[in-house]
Amino acid sequence: MKVLSAFGTRPEAIKMAPLVRCLSRQPQIESKVAVTAQHREMLDQVLQLFQITPDYDLNIMHSGQTLENITSLALRGLGQIIAEEKPDLLLVHGDTTTTLSGALAAFYQQVPCGHVEAGLRTADKYAPFPEEINRRLVGSLADFHFAPTAAARDNLLAENIPAEKIFLTGNTVIDALLQTVEQECSLAGLGLDRLDWAKRVILLTCHRRENWGRPMEEIFAAVADTVREHSDVEVIFPVHKNPLVRQAAQEAFSTLSQVHLCQPLDYLPFCQVMKSCHLVLTDSGGLQEEAPALGKPVLVLREVTERPEAIAAGTARLIGTDYRRVREGVGLLLDDDKVYQSMAQAVNPYGDGRAAQYITEIILKKI
Ligand code: UD1
Ligand code: UDP
Repeated sequence: MKVLSAFGTRPEAIKMAPLVRCLSRQPQIESKVAVTAQHREMLDQVLQLFQITPDYDLNIMHSGQTLENITSLALRGLGQIIAEEKPDLLLVHGDTTTTLSGALAAFYQQVPCGHVEAGLRTADKYAPFPEEINRRLVGSLADFHFAPTAAARDNLLAENIPAEKIFLTGNTVIDALLQTVEQECSLAGLGLDRLDWAKRVILLTCHRRENWGRPMEEIFAAVADTVREHSDVEVIFPVHKNPLVRQAAQEAFSTLSQVHLCQPLDYLPFCQVMKSCHLVLTDSGGLQEEAPALGKPVLVLREVTERPEAIAAGTARLIGTDYRRVREGVGLLLDDDKVYQSMAQAVNPYGDGRAAQYITEIILKKI
């Protein structure tokens, strides 16, 4: 059986890496990898760490790329690869524009498509944007749905996807995290040398399209004013490569010595930082899954989330993006140790670290 895995961004690569590695160990499977390289450096960091050499690299990334551009280049490029390889199954992951393009390209050639991390929903078409619609469309296009949680499975059932096409597997992000987090790694030379680990360190990431502009300015202003009031707090902010995000981060933080801006970190040092920090402040999807597994409180910089499980477990809170709520949310966690301790509980609603193995077994038995 020939399985082609297609992905293009950092989080897809992190979450597909354990599965690609597991598939390539199966003698009955010929595993091929096609990357769109919707991300370039941020994708390459992950490929290198997990020692994955793609069979195809479309290299589509442009600075400040539009959704139309990513969609059309990825659709055409993946279409050509599918036509050449004629796989028995195409695997896509999550909700990026590469994901949608891959699933559509497979559909056009009537190649079965498996969707990893299927069934996440917010019910708000513009949040996250464009991911909510990407994953709903992929839900319609895909033939096999690998749901990470029971809630995700229920979302798919509610959309009338046949139960026998849905498989509850856990999320491969936990596989990637557990395979990485215990590895030793130095943080020297990463732009963090002035950071004082004796202080409480907040890990900040922020990149979502719906947060560009005003929401991001408010978030950054709230973080800046919070650290000005807390001399025992420092912030690490590995800034996404997007020029818009980089400019906003520079404007907000360049004169503030308590905030340490650095390049996107390789996944290995990033795991060290997650493990060592006091709390996580993020609009990322993946961090909402990883931080709870490490017992780190997560404040989510979004109005809605498709990942309700860590909130239900008490390790994550949704604090939105406006200045006042971000200040209150972070302030409470910094100033009230009871609240902090109640959130700093390791919970793992997203998987047991063997999702890639379960998905591989399903592919071998059912597809
Ligand atoms: C994309 C995904 C988003 C995912 C995020 C993970 C879409 C529409 N968005 O958003 O779902 O959460 O990736 O990070 O699919 N850039 C570089 N080098 C890189 C990566 C990005 O320079 O390695 C810059 C480029 O200028 C690029 C810009 O960042 O044009 C934006 O990248 P893009 O993939 O369009 O959007 P993200 O915000 O990264
Ligand atoms: N990550 C990383 N280096 C960084 C920031 C994040 O390796 O500097 C990892 C993080 O651990 C998670 C993934 O990248 O696995 C999340 O990516 P991102 O926030 O860009 O995308 P999202 O999850 O929001 O789609």
